[in-house]
Amino acid sequence: MSAATPQPQMLVIFGASGDLARRKLFPALYSLHVQQLLPRPFLMLGIGRTQYDDEMFRAEVMKDLDLFVPKAAGEHPQERLCFANSFYYQQLSTNDGADYARLAARMEQLQRDNELPDNVVYYLSTPPALSQQIPVFLAQHNLHREHNGFKRLVIEKPFGSDGVSARALHELLHKHFEERQLYRIDHYLGKETVQNLIVLRFANTLFDTVWDYRHIEYVEITAAESIGVEKRAGYFDSSGIIRDMIQNHLLQVLALAAMDPPQQFDSACVHAETLKVLRGLRPLSATELQNNVIFGQYTASHVRGESVPGYRDEPDVPADSHTETYAAIKLYLNHSRWYNVPFYLRAGKRLPTRVTEIVIHFKRCPHPVLGTLPGALPNQLIIRIQPDEGVLMTFGLKEPGGGFHVKNVSMDFHYKDLAKTAIADAYERLLLDCMSGDATLFASGDAVEACWDFIDPILAWKNSSARLFGYPAGTWGPNEADAMMARDGRTWRYPCKNLAADGDYCEL
Ligand code: BG6
Repeated sequence: MSAATPQPQMLVIFGASGDLARRKLFPALYSLHVQQLLPRPFLMLGIGRTQYDDEMFRAEVMKDLDLFVPKAAGEHPQERLCFANSFYYQQLSTNDGADYARLAARMEQLQRDNELPDNVVYYLSTPPALSQQIPVFLAQHNLHREHNGFKRLVIEKPFGSDGVSARALHELLHKHFEERQLYRIDHYLGKETVQNLIVLRFANTLFDTVWDYRHIEYVEITAAESIGVEKRAGYFDSSGIIRDMIQNHLLQVLALAAMDPPQQFDSACVHAETLKVLRGLRPLSATELQNNVIFGQYTASHVRGESVPGYRDEPDVPADSHTETYAAIKLYLNHSRWYNVPFYLRAGKRLPTRVTEIVIHFKRCPHPVLGTLPGALPNQLIIRIQPDEGVLMTFGLKEPGGGFHVKNVSMDFHYKDLAKTAIADAYERLLLDCMSGDATLFASGDAVEACWDFIDPILAWKNSSARLFGYPAGTWGPNEADAMMARDGRTWRYPCKNLAADGDYCEL
C-alpha cells in the first residue's frame, strides 16, 4: 500500500478552471511538489472552456495558491512560480471532436518538448454528464491507447444515480478503458484517518481479536456537517444526502471498518475484502424500510444567535422540495463476523457541528458482579475521522475509596499531538496514488454497484410513501431518528468538535 515513485508523466485535468481543481487539486499538487514527490519530469495540462494561454493560466493558478495555500515559513519566493511553470493550458469544448484532435497534437508536442514518455493520467474534474462524453472522445482520438506508456482515467463521483445508470456508465467506460485504468475517487478513502482504520484494526492484537459479534454490540457511523447546501442546490436537490454521502463515503468507511483482514495491502486484496462486505449489506425488508430509515430536511432556525434559512428557502431550492438533507439508517451485514450486530449510519447537513466518526460499542462485561457494579458502562472505541483526528477509548476503573464503584475514564490519542505531523489533504494522497498506479484507495466498479444495490430500494421507498421529517437547523436531526435508537434501548453518541467522551468538555 505504499506508493511507488510515480514515473515521468503528464497529468491532464479537464475542468481546470473549476472549483475542485482550484481549491483541491492545485494545492494538493503544490504540496506534492514541495515534498518533491511529483514525478520528474512532470507537467500538468489544464483543459477548460475559458480562453487562456499558458501564461494567463499560470497567473490564475498562482492566485489560487495564494488563496488556498498559506505561505510556509521559509518558503522560497520563487517556489510557486517554479511550480506553476510546469502547468500548461488548452482550451477545449468537450463535445467538439476537432478540439480533441488539437488536444492530441498539443500533448504530443509537449511530450516531445519536455522529453516525456507517453504516460498520461486524465482527471475528469467535470460535471457528471461529461464522464460519459469525454472518455468516448478520448478513445476516438486514440488518446486512451497504451502503446508506449500508461493511460489512466480518474473520475469523480457521482458514479451514476442508481444501479442501472452506474452499470451503464461502467459499461460505457469499459468499451474504451480496462478496469485497471479506471480510478474512481471517493475522497473519504484518501483521508489519513480512514486509512488508519486498517492499521488500527489489523496491526493491534488488542483490537483485532475483539472485532466481531462476540464482543461488539453495535456500531455507529456519523458524518455531520454544520454547513447547509450552500450554492450547490442545483446538484444537491436532485441528489439528496443518501446519494451525496451515504451511498459512497459512509458505505466505503463501513466496508473498511467491517472487512476481514486482506492478505496483502494491495488493491486486489483490499478491494476483494471490501466488496465482500458491500455485497453482504442485507437488503432492508419492507418493515425495516419503514422503521429503520429516517429522512429529514432542515427548517429555518437560529444557530448561535444567527438566523439560518430552512432548506426550502435556500437559493435554487424548489419551495416544495422533498430532498432529504439528513438520513439515518439501521442496517445489518450478511457476514458471520457481524452476526446480528446493527450498524447505525447517519449523515446530515446543518447539524450542530462538523464531525465524522465511527463508534464501536462493545458488549457489556458479562461478569455477574463486576459487570453490574454501580457506574459500570460498556467500553466504547471512538475513531475520529475529522476534525480533531484521533482515537478515544473509554473504560471503567475503580473509583478510589471504600466499596467498588466504577468510574468511566478515557484514553485518547490526537493526531495534532504528533509533533511535525500535518495531516495531508485526501487529494494529495489520491493524486499521488493514481500517478503511481496504486488503486487501493479508489472505489472499484463492483463496489460502487454493490452500494447501489443496497441503496436503490431505499431511494425507491423514499420516492414512494416514506415520510420526510423537518428538523431545526443546528440540531441533531429529526426526533424520529432518536426514537429509532430508543426502540433499541440506545442513544446516538453526541459528538463534539473536539474528540471527547460523551458528557466531557464539548465544543461545537
Ligand atoms: C462531498 C459532498 O462528497 O463531501 C459534499 O458532495 C460534502 O456535500 C463533502 O460536503 C464532505 O466532505 P468532507 O471531506 O468535508 O467531509
